[in-house]
Parts: sequence; structure tokens; C-alpha cells
Amino acid sequence: MTYETDQPDALPVRDWTSDWDWLDPQWGSNAIDIWNEVREKCPVAFTERYGRAYMPVTMEGVAQVARDTENYSSEWVSVARPDAPRSPAPPITSDPPDHTEHRRLLLPSFSPQKIAPMEEEMREFCRGLIANLGDRESADAAVDYAQHIPVHGICQLLGVPEDDADLFRDWIFRNFQLAPKDNEVRLQVQKEMDAYIAKLLEIRATEPEEDLLTLVTNAEINGEPAPWNIKLGYVKLMIIAGIDTTWSAIGSGLWHFGRHPEQRAMLAAADKDQMIWHTAVEEVLRYYAPVTMARKVLSDTEVAGCPVHAGEQMLVTFPAANHDPEAFENADEFQIDRARNRHVAFGLGIHRCLGSNLARLELTVALQEWIWALPDYELDTTRETEWANGQVRGPRVLPVRLNR
Ligand code: HEM
Repeated sequence: MTYETDQPDALPVRDWTSDWDWLDPQWGSNAIDIWNEVREKCPVAFTERYGRAYMPVTMEGVAQVARDTENYSSEWVSVARPDAPRSPAPPITSDPPDHTEHRRLLLPSFSPQKIAPMEEEMREFCRGLIANLGDRESADAAVDYAQHIPVHGICQLLGVPEDDADLFRDWIFRNFQLAPKDNEVRLQVQKEMDAYIAKLLEIRATEPEEDLLTLVTNAEINGEPAPWNIKLGYVKLMIIAGIDTTWSAIGSGLWHFGRHPEQRAMLAAADKDQMIWHTAVEEVLRYYAPVTMARKVLSDTEVAGCPVHAGEQMLVTFPAANHDPEAFENADEFQIDRARNRHVAFGLGIHRCLGSNLARLELTVALQEWIWALPDYELDTTRETEWANGQVRGPRVLPVRLNR
């Protein structure tokens, strides 16, 4: 496939059904409206950008792609230039049958038995962040709060140093916001991450600890030591998948409740195990699902009646499926007590999120500690909330008034 570098990548989107671009500045704050508008016209949008790529916006279309590992490969998990250098980060970038072994290796580290004991320490960490606000009257709930919580969680589990948080966030920013259109950036991020992770794995080889880095250092696949680039890939995935995903969900929840005092009051009055907290967290995940994935089309086939061809790219727009009125009653309403909520924020099929127990714990604890401590906070509408666009969507600047 040819890819014209003078294609209008930098130009604003003309029409979201035939020219979509997940890095367009409108995507970050308006994606939900965009998907809803596209769905009114057709189930699958198209773009010539990035070569050729499709965007299904219905639950039916998204589920069809996510479940079909014959016609779609996870070798490409983001829509980027078709000549983008891709490196393995299993299990997310692997297809059957290899996928099974990679997933089996990592799965026990994310089980409820491993994650649940992290709760108390996570609460203390969140309370510490709130205490650090001192007697300030305003804050940036993304920068001062949300962004730190998943870094803390993943550092505990993986064994990477929390002092390097800025480095991780910089890689994530460049990887998601710049690399899809710039191969040099992608290569540079891969190089920096590989060098960083290699050092840590070498240390664990002689000084093992009770962490995921040590598990990866000793990893075997089908009885053989895992190849070096696969080991690097496991750790790259944990850093990339474990941070801005949950950071975005926490930020979106705080953005939402900062605009809805009546819902905030219900939560502030509820104990941690009350059902309202459970339904509220699931509704945040449904309504503001942060993660959109992608696949490489392997053979000529069709999605929701739309023909697609081998070598093209396909978004797996889980967040759009969560707003499909065919799948959810009053899909455009945020219902804090929604009882039936079979959302796909964590994906579906064989690649369903490995970190969902950790993500749910972090999201619940982060919202609870904030809302209990600052029940009257509200969005500062005199300053702008800034949303990340692209693969992981959520607030990156979130001005709030604390009103205490
Ligand atoms: C709210 C936060 C999160 C959301 C919305 C989310 C969403 C997703 C989605 C949609 C997938 C499916 C990928 C696909 O179909 O291609 C996925 C996979 C994955 N996620 Fe998450 N994720 C979150 C947090 C985390 C965390 C904290 C971790 C921890 C490291 C994590 C690790 C993974 C891994 C390893 C996979 C690949 C699983 C496989 O391929 O078998 N995620 N996630």
C-alpha cells in the first residue's frame, strides 16, 4: 500500500463519516457527540488518512471485530501510518495461538486475590495527595490528583521506580498523541523504553524481588525462555496500558461529578460498599470509556455490511459501542444507578483487559477519597478542561474549585 506523506493529515476533519481522524483537536472533548452523529448516518465511518482506516460506531460492529481473530490481527493495535514500525507488546499485540501463553503468564498477577490487598495502601496514597493540596482553594484534579494514582498502582505491582513517573507520562504522551503520525517519534520512544526496561530486567536477573519485573525476567513460553524482545514488550505494555487508561477514567469521573452536585451528594453520603458506588463507577466506565483499540484487516470481509480489505486498518471503538442506543436504554443519559450495564470499556473477546481488577480498584478508591474529602468541589468553568484525544481519551488539565 502506498502512503502519500503530503496527505492532509494536519488539516481539520471535513466530515466525520468519510474523513475521521482520532488526533483531530475536536476528538478529545467531542468524541461522544461525534460517534453519535456518525451512528445516525452509518454504522462504520471511513478515512483516507493513515492509508485507509475504518471506524465502527455500533455495538454490533465493534463486537464483531473484537471477536473475530480470523479476519483481524492485533499486530496493529493503533491506527497509525501504514509504514509505522510496530514492535511486539504481548499479549495485546499477539493473535491465537500465541496469545494464550502470553496471557496465561501475566494473568495471575492481576487476579482479585493479588489486587484486593492493595486497597488500604491505595486509599492512604490518595489521602496523601489530597492533604498535599493544603488549604488551596482551587486545584487541577488531573495534574494534582488523577495522574499520580495509576502510576503508584503499577509501580507497586511491576516494581518500576515511582520517581520515574514523569518519564512514563512523557513516553505515553508521545506514543499516543504524536507517534501515530510520526514514525521517528515512535522509534525514539521504543528505543528509550527498551533501554530503560533492559536495565531493570538485568538487575532483577541477579537481584530477584516479589514483583512482575522478576516474573518477566524469568518468563518461559512453552517451556523455553521467552525471547528478549518479548520480555521488553511485556513491560512496555504494562507501563503504556496501566497508566493513562485509569488516569483518564478517574479524571472523567471527577469532571462529571464536578458538574452534577446532586449525584455528588448521593455519593458523598454513601459508604464504600453501597451499591450506588458500584453502579456509579460502572457508569463512569461506560459513559467515559477511555480506550479505543485497533486491528489490521487480514482478509477481504465486511463489518456491519461495509466491505473492508486486507491490509487496511480498523478501529475497535469500544467507547462508541457504549453509547449505542441499540445496546443501552437511554444510552445518552448518565444514570448513576444504572442496573443493567454490560459496557465494553474493558473490551471483549480474548484480549479483554487484564488490568480490570486493578483499574476498578484505583477508580473506585480515587473517586471515593476525593468526594468524601471534598464533597462541594466543582468544575471551574472559567478555565478550560483539556482532553487528550486519540487512543486514550480523558482530561489532562481539569481545573476545579474545592469549596471547603
Ligand atoms: C480504566 C482503565 C482501563 C481501561 C478502560 C482498559 C481498557 C482495555 C481494553 C479496551 C483492552 C482490550 C484491548 C483489545 O481488545 O485490543 C485492554 C487490554 C489490556 N489491558 Fe487494559 N484498560 C484499563 C486499565 C488497565 C490497567 C491498569 C492495566 C495494567 C497493566 C491494563 C492492562 C491491560 C493488558 C495487559 C491488556 C491486554 C490483554 C490481552 O491482550 O489479552 N489495563 N484494556
